[in-house]
Amino acid sequence: MKEVFPDTARVSDDGHLVIGGCDTVEIADRFGTPVMVLDRATLEARAKAFASVLEPARVHYAGKALCCVAVLEIVRDLGLSLDVCTGGELATALAASFPTERITFHGNNKSDAELRMALDAAVGRIVVDSFDEIDRLDRMDATADLMVRVTPGVEAHTHEYVQTGQEDSKFGFTLAEGVALEAVRRARDAGNCTLHGIHAHIGSQIFELSAFDLAIERVADFLASARDELGFEARDLNLGGGFGIAHTRDEMTPDPAESVSRLVSIVEREFSARGLPVPDVYIEPGRATVGASAVTLYRVGTIKEIPNVRTYVSVDGGMSDNIRPALYEARYEARLANRMAAASGPLVTVAGKHCESGDILIRDVHLPDDIAVGDLLVIPATGAYTYSMANNYNRIPRPPIVMVADGRATEIVRRETYDDLLRLDRRLDGSELP
Ligand SMILES: Cc1ncc(COP(=O)(O)O)c(C=O)c1O
Repeated sequence: MKEVFPDTARVSDDGHLVIGGCDTVEIADRFGTPVMVLDRATLEARAKAFASVLEPARVHYAGKALCCVAVLEIVRDLGLSLDVCTGGELATALAASFPTERITFHGNNKSDAELRMALDAAVGRIVVDSFDEIDRLDRMDATADLMVRVTPGVEAHTHEYVQTGQEDSKFGFTLAEGVALEAVRRARDAGNCTLHGIHAHIGSQIFELSAFDLAIERVADFLASARDELGFEARDLNLGGGFGIAHTRDEMTPDPAESVSRLVSIVEREFSARGLPVPDVYIEPGRATVGASAVTLYRVGTIKEIPNVRTYVSVDGGMSDNIRPALYEARYEARLANRMAAASGPLVTVAGKHCESGDILIRDVHLPDDIAVGDLLVIPATGAYTYSMANNYNRIPRPPIVMVADGRATEIVRRETYDDLLRLDRRLDGSELP
């Protein structure tokens, strides 16, 4: 199988896609569609690849990519750390009994309640992102271990990166004009806090690893000034996440272990060159940990051919379970999970079922020319930023997540029901529904 499918994917004798030893046609029959199928072996293999270079606790799984109790339990048991950025993600981590000393708490606008929750849980690190937040920790007389998030003026997404002279980001402190230096000074002096180091996340879906080189050089320059002007030495350097993955056959996923080894050697080189102690390197891969491990199965419901224009193949999900194509023009590919051997045919468009013309999952994809209503369409590499961004547009219940491993399929997030959707509604007079 091509690398966009999970590692355990294979095709059965009757042409069905099998993942984790489970026939996806049977999964669709048993759990309904749409359904996200998550391959435990792939998830574990990616996490272990990152942890083969850095010790596991220095690899933070970025929970925003896919945050649910069972996934966090796996991450926990592999000894990885966890990046959360809201009270809700922290609550999920606590429900998964995630060791709190291995949790890093992020966010550009943490509320008092979230900061209090993080302090009460004694999370391992709080990454401060604004002067307001530092002031609040100071007023709370907080005892916490901190990192300062900086924006190194390098922005990287997909295959390109740009050097931005004057950083324009809602996250972190700019290195320009002494702003980040002042943040280091104030974070170091806040409450009973200990400042351990610096955090810099430069983007997502990064294939061009040299973007990290430039960010590291700038952070090293900054820390040389912090040493000279404030006598501050960073023990920790967290370079965030952003490692890209292939979503289509024409992309190549950079090797996780090689990417991280490269970062570590550049940190060694740049810090040594400035006479700085080499810090412990931390990373936060979200997409590259979980993205390739899942596929989404949809049932084809209607096929509409507009002569000389295009053919729409509509499926029973869409922008509520995967908003990435509508939000970022993200590209995916698709196959028929019930007929994997069928020859690919003309270009068609895979549309969702939402009342929105932009609800297109794949603009152009080759699917068999005898594709029919009832076929099972599979989109691979849907593990990251799909379920975690899922919504109920058009009051569509969110799909389940089914984990597959060694021939067993386990529902780790159940499908939402109409009752779930109505649970929060109140009548006009404020009373609860029966
Ligand atoms: C601070 C931080 N760390 C880690 C990540 C994870 O990024 P990715 O899933 O691209 O690895 C993000 C994503 O936005 C982030 O903002």
